[in-house]
Amino acid sequence: MSQDFDLFRISEEHEMLRAAVRSLAEAKIAPFAADVDEQGRFPQEALDALRGNDLHAVHVPEEFGGAGADALATVIVIEEVARVCASSSLIPAVNKLGSLPVQLSGSPELKAKYLGALARGEGMFSYCLSEPEAGSDAAGMRTRAVRDGDSWVLNGVKRWITNAGVSEFYTVMAVTDPEKRSKGISAFVVEKGDAGVSFGAPERKLGIKGSPTREVYFDNVRIPADRMIGAEGTGFATAMRTLDHTRVTIAAQALGIAQGALDYAKGYVRERRQFGKPIGDFQGVQFMLADMAMKLEAARQLTYAAAARSQRGDGDLTFFGAAAKCFASDAAMEITTDAVQLLGGYGYTRDYPLERMMRDAKITQIYEGTNQIQRIVMARNLP
Ligand code: CAA
Repeated sequence: MSQDFDLFRISEEHEMLRAAVRSLAEAKIAPFAADVDEQGRFPQEALDALRGNDLHAVHVPEEFGGAGADALATVIVIEEVARVCASSSLIPAVNKLGSLPVQLSGSPELKAKYLGALARGEGMFSYCLSEPEAGSDAAGMRTRAVRDGDSWVLNGVKRWITNAGVSEFYTVMAVTDPEKRSKGISAFVVEKGDAGVSFGAPERKLGIKGSPTREVYFDNVRIPADRMIGAEGTGFATAMRTLDHTRVTIAAQALGIAQGALDYAKGYVRERRQFGKPIGDFQGVQFMLADMAMKLEAARQLTYAAAARSQRGDGDLTFFGAAAKCFASDAAMEITTDAVQLLGGYGYTRDYPLERMMRDAKITQIYEGTNQIQRIVMARNLP
């Protein structure tokens, strides 16, 4: 039996993908990461590099013109981009988050139209669930969609929308029957160009400064009825099923940020000399690096186990997605904080990338559900 499979070994194809994305990320994305953060500007260079190599939305199946990457390959792409620039890693990650509702529940026509456009690089996708008064309690949303003949008319406000304004397409969850709470929510595709769609000012954030986060306003936005994703009343379940899969990609982002910080700190302690020798020769420093690497590897194993479940569609994905996102993001926060510590005063300055990585890591404990919500999800879905 043991000859037939190779326990826990990543396939050669996945490793080749990792090597290719790493060299692309180092050559085309890393050089701009500090400037993107400093200026708070969208990483167009990253979008161009990713699109040019069919990596901007790798999860889109081949039948819709996509690269057809499996869940683990998607994780590896996001991890490697996040290793050099967390903001840029939100391009493949949020394209998956925004479009997965269509992929999971959309009609064949919606899939062909929107997944095709995404794969061809005609526009990015964002995901509109949260609202000013409905964050953790997503089912408490107020955005309304009312049927009018062959159209739906949307009114409301969505908040914390990643890549808002730069995305062409938006998956919007809205209330179609206020009496039914989560069962009265439906999902729609809205286009940036639809009349009545507008955006708030970019939020001024601690990290991921290259990825715009804005409110999205819907003011009597009239869309054709066939833009509903799946059946009426299934939008909340679709939104939650989507998050089961994409929390794994946030875990991937956390892994990448943490790996970037660990790699930098490892190099630094070899060069930096104090008391007549490299600081990496001191056991106190070695113990810190050992702990960082151990936590990162544990987080990676859990994330890859979750990715395998996402790919297979296993019933325990809800637990694993939440656990991977929660564990990897906590690990990333610890590892990036320790990496700053290893550089001492230098780590605290903007002359080194570690303070950026520490600021970027923080969001992974918050978005796609805070880590407190992940614990609620895990507790309700214990394996
Ligand atoms: N899969 C499929 N269906 C699901 C599901 C899942 N994982 N979870 C819930 N549902 C469905 C079920 O049909 C359920 O109905 P049943 O009673 O018939 O089972 C229905 O939804 C309602 O579920 P709950 O009773 O569990 O709902 P709740 O109101 O108690 O909320 C919650 C559950 C887990 C707290 C949920 O509100 C939640 O995940 N909150 C966090 C929201 C979140 O993650 N927001 C992040 C937004 S995305 C983002 O961050 C933006 C970005 O751009 C990066």
